[in-house]
Amino acid sequence: MNIVLFGPPGAGKGTQSALLVELLKMRHISTGDLLREAVKNQTALGKKAKAFMDAGQLVPEEVFQASKGKSFILDGFPRTVVQAEALGNLMARLSLKIGKAVFLEVPRATLLRRLTGRRVCSSCGAVYHVDSKPTAHAGICDVCGGQVTQRKDDHEDVIATRLEAYDLSTSPLKRYFAEKGLFVEVDGLGETADVYARIVKQLV
Ligand code: AP5
Repeated sequence: MNIVLFGPPGAGKGTQSALLVELLKMRHISTGDLLREAVKNQTALGKKAKAFMDAGQLVPEEVFQASKGKSFILDGFPRTVVQAEALGNLMARLSLKIGKAVFLEVPRATLLRRLTGRRVCSSCGAVYHVDSKPTAHAGICDVCGGQVTQRKDDHEDVIATRLEAYDLSTSPLKRYFAEKGLFVEVDGLGETADVYARIVKQLV
C-alpha cells in the first residue's frame, strides 16, 4: 500500500520512514531530503525547487515511475492542499493510488525537544537525538563515521517559523484526507518501536 506520512516538524516522519523501508522494504520519497541534497550539490533544481513545490508544480514524477512494484511512503509531500491536488492528478495519470494518509500526532512541547536535540550525519543522513538516540562517540556517525551536525533549520527561531507554516498550510490536509476517506491518526508519542507498531497496524 502506498501511503502519505504527514505531521508537524519533528513528529518522527523520517524516523518511521527509515523503519518502514528497512522492515517492510517500502520506498521512501522525502521532498525535504531531495531539497537538502539539491541545495548541498548547488544544483539548479535546488535553487528553484522550493518555489515550484510551493506552487504545487514540482512533483517528482520519475521517482514514482522508478518505484514500480514497490509500495512508497511520501514524507514531506504533499505539504499543502494545492500540492495534495497536484498529487491526486499525478496519481491518476500514473494509475497509482494512495491507500492511507497517516498523520503522526505529537504535542508541541515534545516536538520542540525532538527538533532542538536532533543531530544528522552530514555524509549518510542518519538521524540521531542527543537524549533519545545519541551517537556512540560524540559528533561521529555510528553508521559511516561521518560528521554529525545540527540542521540549520533546527534552531529555535527557525523552528517557530516552521511550526507556524505547518499550522497554516499543512494542518488543513487532515480535513482534506478525511474527506477522501484516507485519513488515519497515529499517536506519535512513546518509544520509536511502539509508534512503528501503531503505524503498521493501520497498514494491514
Ligand atoms: P522536511 O525535512 O520534510 O522537514 P519537516 O517536515 O519539518 O520534518 P522533520 O524532518 O523536521 O521532522 P520528522 O517528522 O521527519 O522528524 P524525525 O523523524 O527527524 O522539510 C524541510 C524543509 O524543506 C521544510 O521546512 C520546507 O521548507 C522544505 N520542504 C520540504 N518539502 C517541501 C514541499 N513539499 N514543498 C515545499 N517545501 C518543502 O525526528 C525528529 C527527532 O526526534 C530526531 O532526532 C529523532 O531521533 C527523534 N525522534 C523521532 N521519533 C522519536 C520517538 N518516538 N521518541 C523519541 N525521539 C524520537
